[in-house]
Amino acid sequence: MNIQIINGPNLNLLGVREKSIYGDTGFESYLSQLRARYANININYYQSNVEGEIINKLHEVGFAFNGIVINAGAYTHTSVAIADAIAAITAPVIEVHISNVYKREEFRHKSLLAASCKGVIAGFGLDSYRLAIENLINS
Ligand code: DQA
Repeated sequence: MNIQIINGPNLNLLGVREKSIYGDTGFESYLSQLRARYANININYYQSNVEGEIINKLHEVGFAFNGIVINAGAYTHTSVAIADAIAAITAPVIEVHISNVYKREEFRHKSLLAASCKGVIAGFGLDSYRLAIENLINS
């Protein structure tokens, strides 16, 4: 089973950035734990701060992989182009957020991506990614 995790802008700074919101663990160390826990599946990881590169990755894996877990960061709230890419591919896509976006500023309450996704998981810290993977494995 092949699962792709895609992290969008500023998520390369996890563990450094706004720790009171996003915690103090870098994604790479969390990823090692995830891969150890799900040793029988391939968890591929891609991070980009560039909208078009995220779209290219969705196109690249979106017809071949079993599922995609995406945290598009701020592009969640702005990107029609990423929403269109998710709608265009066949793999199920789960939108995740580390923080509970509904407890935060109003502009974070709106996702342009959610309607094209299988579902949305938000507010469980880094565990949001694991919960999404659990769903993909069990479907
Ligand atoms: C985020 C929430 C977004 O609103 C924000 O722009 C991020 C991170 C989250 O994981 O909580 O960059 O997607």
